[in-house]
Amino acid sequence: MDHFQYKHGELHAEDVALSCIAQHVGTPVYVYSAATLTRHFGLFRQALAWTDHLVCFAVKSNSNLAVLKLLGDLGAGMDVVSGGEYLRAKAAGVPGDRIVFSGVGKTIPEMRMAIEGGIRQFNLESEPEMRALSALCAGMGVEVPVAVRVNPDVDAKTHEKIATGRSDNKFGIPISRAIEVYAEAAALPGLRVVGVDVHIGSQLTDLDPFRAAYAKVADLTRALRAEGHAITRLDLGGGLGIPYRRDNSAPPLPLDYGQVIRETVGDLACEIEIEPGRNIVGNAGVLLSQVIYVKRGEDRDFLILDAAMNDLLRPAMYGAHHDIVPLIEPSVGAGVQPYDVVGPVCESGDTFRKGAELPGMAAGQLVAFRSAGAYGAVMASEYNSRPLVPEVLVQGDHFAVIRARPTYEDMLGRDSIPAWL
Ligand code: LLP
Repeated sequence: MDHFQYKHGELHAEDVALSCIAQHVGTPVYVYSAATLTRHFGLFRQALAWTDHLVCFAVKSNSNLAVLKLLGDLGAGMDVVSGGEYLRAKAAGVPGDRIVFSGVGKTIPEMRMAIEGGIRQFNLESEPEMRALSALCAGMGVEVPVAVRVNPDVDAKTHEKIATGRSDNKFGIPISRAIEVYAEAAALPGLRVVGVDVHIGSQLTDLDPFRAAYAKVADLTRALRAEGHAITRLDLGGGLGIPYRRDNSAPPLPLDYGQVIRETVGDLACEIEIEPGRNIVGNAGVLLSQVIYVKRGEDRDFLILDAAMNDLLRPAMYGAHHDIVPLIEPSVGAGVQPYDVVGPVCESGDTFRKGAELPGMAAGQLVAFRSAGAYGAVMASEYNSRPLVPEVLVQGDHFAVIRARPTYEDMLGRDSIPAWL
């Protein structure tokens, strides 16, 4: 459930009419609902209430400081994958001992930054990275907690670009080699082995792949303990999918997911970490856009919006579906017609949807892309020199701009022309 509903004939975020935000901030603009974020975060906590746990929000899904602050204040930890994300988590007030550092290519400066600022654990993804971190820690005279990310070779049954747990993906170390890698980690200076980490993919709509991966993690944990490693923490990654369509195909809920965790690793008495991103913020955000023109093509009508692939990349990149709805509630029985919904960018890939069924639309009307809170604003760019899309947070009956739209001066001012030109 989210807090974007029609009230008095108009789509609202909580108690704010989205048209009011469009009027004040302009379009395109991302709008997030604080109540939805709070609710979704609470569902994961509830799902793991049976054990010691930390829900680490995957910062990559939405890294706005206001979103991170809201979740951090609720007690969330953060899963970061770069120095920039680490600094964002810290700037939002999240203490280092609630931040885990994942990612296949952490650089020495990034690792040093996290060690100096405080870190809960590094999730190591390869032997060279493990050795580099060890050498860094030895040089700094510190010891850091680490988990090794294992690749369980499980098919996540999701889009190939966001599956990460198969042996042909670049992530983690093959689970078959885990015992020897842990032995080396334990022998290296500066590293304190505390856990096992796994993440098999994103937008999973079936619990079976989780079950298969976590069962392998449970076996590995037992084997590692038998080798003398004190495994006290399991980081089970993120990945639980969300409903992108308002039909009956809703994926399992966090509570069901928590049950799978309990059944597979619940008897190991480990502290459980999870790293959900999309499930917390995906349906807590919409992208508002205005129709610039309705254009008649040879055999179809094009709805040309002021949002484009640079603002919401997912349809162009993954063929992803986002419901597109008018801000004015269509009257009961109103007819619909098909539109190809496109943006102004000069690529045919700048198509949000072909044949979207919408009521008759006209220039100036507003629409919302639903389920756009995760991997929306964070993947936006200024392609075609379109200023970066702004973000707004709603709470109850008020809203705040949490990232302003850059001016053209801001945008041009970041370049410089060398004196010799
Ligand atoms: N932990 C790790 C190590 C990850 O790589 C990811 C996502 C997550 C947690 C969070 O997964 P989530 O709960 O959000 O599914 N841009 C793509 C999604 C890429 C996901 C990458 N990793 C999209 O728009 O669908």
